[in-house]
Amino acid sequence: MSEAAVSNDEFTAFWNNVLVDKFERFRNILLDGLSYHSEAPLRTLEIAQGARALDVGCGWGDTAIALARKVGPSGSVLGLDCCDAFLEKGRQDARAAGLANLRFVAADVQTYHFQPEFDFCFSRFGMMFFSNPVAAMRNIRSALKPGGRLMFITWRALADNPFMAIPKQIVLQYLPPPGENAQTCGPGPFSMANPEVVTAQLRAAGFEDARFELTDGTVMIGATVEQAMDFQLALGPAGEIFREAGVQAGQRRQEIEDALRTELSRHLQNGKVYMQSSSWAITARKPAA
Ligand SMILES: C[S@@+](CC[C@H](N)C(=O)[O-])C[C@H]1O[C@@H](n2cnc3c(N)ncnc32)[C@H](O)[C@@H]1O
Repeated sequence: MSEAAVSNDEFTAFWNNVLVDKFERFRNILLDGLSYHSEAPLRTLEIAQGARALDVGCGWGDTAIALARKVGPSGSVLGLDCCDAFLEKGRQDARAAGLANLRFVAADVQTYHFQPEFDFCFSRFGMMFFSNPVAAMRNIRSALKPGGRLMFITWRALADNPFMAIPKQIVLQYLPPPGENAQTCGPGPFSMANPEVVTAQLRAAGFEDARFELTDGTVMIGATVEQAMDFQLALGPAGEIFREAGVQAGQRRQEIEDALRTELSRHLQNGKVYMQSSSWAITARKPAA
């Protein structure tokens, strides 16, 4: 396959030029709400003091910081992401926490030149955006020592994630689906939802012992109904439809907002909006020899 065929340039540009600002606006939802899915996997993770860990697609770096605490001062963590704007926040938070065993590098995970120095690679929702997932997994494998472990969290299918599926259905009542030439962030949030497909991808990339652990639960998707509605129109499947519809979206904005508000109000708990979500924590291992 040619270099161009596996390039992520279009996707990483989209992350940098379109998504960074939107993520920043909804940091409370993305960090406080969706980190629900990494809470148990990271809490129960067994990793030795002194281990070397990699966090790919680490975003603002909160999981890299959690890993840096787990491996202690004799260990180290490298956080990689294609958006330096995210990493800068991670650097500030690591400094504020007094952590010296953690560094953040802006790079494309699929092509970054690794040495086989890591015991463990982690990712929370950072693996679903590679133009060639097997090439990216193979590259991650090159970063691991023999016997090194991989753990990554991905969304299960759209139908298992009503917090994205229901708003998408509502917006589709007013606007057409995105066309074939829609700008995107990569294969997308549900591209690793199918265990059979991901198991085959991991095997093709040289990993063994793929396992899938399910996490279901309600997540906070808005500190108010108004924020939940803004979040849906900015990010995720509903946001993509709205963005791609351009002028038509502007013309129907009022009706769409009203319909979303009505639905989201049904999910209020103590003033915040909570809806059902579902993820996989996927683990695999590089063969020991
Ligand atoms: C859904 S966000 C998850 C961020 C973070 N792990 C979290 O859970 O808050 C996906 C992240 O993957 C990064 N990303 C996407 N494609 C990438 C690539 N090819 N190389 C490195 N990072 C990438 C994005 O910049 C973004 O920070």
